[in-house]
Amino acid sequence: MIVLFAALSVLGLFLYFSLGNIVYNSIDSSLLSRAKALATLVSEDDSEMEFDFSDEVMWEYSSPKSRSFFQIRRPDGTTIEKSASLTNSELPFLAGENQTNYKNVFLNGIPLRLVNFHILKEIEKDDKATGRYHRLIIQCTEDISAQLKVMKTYRIVLSFSIFAVMIISAFGGFLIARKALIPIKEISKTVDSISESNLSERITVEEVPEELRILASSFNRTFDSLERSFKRQKQFAADASHELRTPLSVVLSESEVTLRKDRSLQEYKDALTAVINAAKIMSGMVQKLLFLARLTTDKSGLNMKNIDIDEIIHESVRMLTPLADQKSISMNISIPDRFVIRGDRAALLELFVNIIDNAIKYNVPLGKIDISVKKEKGFIITKIKDTGIGIAGKDLDRVFDRFYRVDRSRSREPGSVGLGLSICEGIAKLHGGRIEIKSKVGEGTTVSVYLK
Ligand SMILES: Nc1ncnc2c1ncn2[C@@H]1O[C@H](COP(=O)(O)OP(=O)(O)OP(=O)(O)O)[C@@H](O)[C@H]1O
Ligand SMILES: [Mg+2]
Repeated sequence: MIVLFAALSVLGLFLYFSLGNIVYNSIDSSLLSRAKALATLVSEDDSEMEFDFSDEVMWEYSSPKSRSFFQIRRPDGTTIEKSASLTNSELPFLAGENQTNYKNVFLNGIPLRLVNFHILKEIEKDDKATGRYHRLIIQCTEDISAQLKVMKTYRIVLSFSIFAVMIISAFGGFLIARKALIPIKEISKTVDSISESNLSERITVEEVPEELRILASSFNRTFDSLERSFKRQKQFAADASHELRTPLSVVLSESEVTLRKDRSLQEYKDALTAVINAAKIMSGMVQKLLFLARLTTDKSGLNMKNIDIDEIIHESVRMLTPLADQKSISMNISIPDRFVIRGDRAALLELFVNIIDNAIKYNVPLGKIDISVKKEKGFIITKIKDTGIGIAGKDLDRVFDRFYRVDRSRSREPGSVGLGLSICEGIAKLHGGRIEIKSKVGEGTTVSVYLK
């Protein structure tokens, strides 16, 4: 509204002054020609000034009621001649001006346009021009009350128009803004109503005006991902409690049954061993859960350093050799070059230990594991190939899910929770990489770890 008001005001002023210019230009040119006509009637010789004012020419200046005036002066202001219409009054005069000029003046309350027309009159002497000049000022006026009235009306009309336009546009703007805001209010109502309990509600994009559809869809997308992660979170909590229930019930039942009557020393030992094993499972699970919780997508928790892949892999293999020896599994490492990546040592160790651990756990006795490293398209790719039981195609997509185990009954080894690969995936992502698995049931599995 302020900008509109400023623009209209500037336009109004421009129009008003343009009109004034046109009006005054036409008055001024008629005044000038009248002054020039008067000038032709003046002649002066050495001794006296002569005026050749016939009544015919002078009729408009002669009546005392006429509103046309003239006055002829010398530069010092002394009056040489003035029109009869002036009676006792004098036209305003400012001595010292030496150029023709125009002014708005008042005479007895009448608004007048006045020209001070400066002329040089040659002084005639015995019919011979001497080259001497006298300066004369011919003042001549025109009544401009009619024009001033027009200007005033114009001013009023202009102001009123601007005011009317302002009111109309304020009202229209208000209506349009209100109409435009209705759908936004609707959207905000829906957004407000969406809460934990009805996360599946969505904004109906088709009912929203074209311009707001982008907003509505992006809200919907946000709700989609919120709902997904909320579901995942819920599932995760359910799975975690479910997984903890088994070892917990082992601890409870084992202790209760043992305490029911007196037992032999061996029986107490066996019971305690069972309790310890169950507690180990729980402790391992809690440790993994904590690790997973810390594996958020931000890198702030990582201690990034230049790391030799060769060193990390040898360290992982060294840690797992006892496990491999139990199943008589041979491990073979081939790293043709020195590969350095930037990463967090502890996290990367966790990653490779988990994957090699899987390759041992899900291998057959006397099986083999081949670990090789190569560089390709900006990635350092570590392949861990085993000759184990393999994973069926339908399970391949799900092995990265938390708590997912292909065959729950078979993977009942202590500490096998189904969290390993999800942890590995999280670590790889934090390092700008990914994990790919290829597998054939009965032949073996190849896990490829891509790291930047
Ligand atoms: N190399 C492999 N060969 C065959 N199956 C595998 C292999 N690696 C993983 N799997 C299957 O994928 C499932 C998920 O693996 P993951 O490492 O996430 O869990 P886990 O090994 O069962 O438990 P955790 O690693 O938490 O102790 C495993 O239970 C197993 O069924
Ligand atoms: Mg595992």
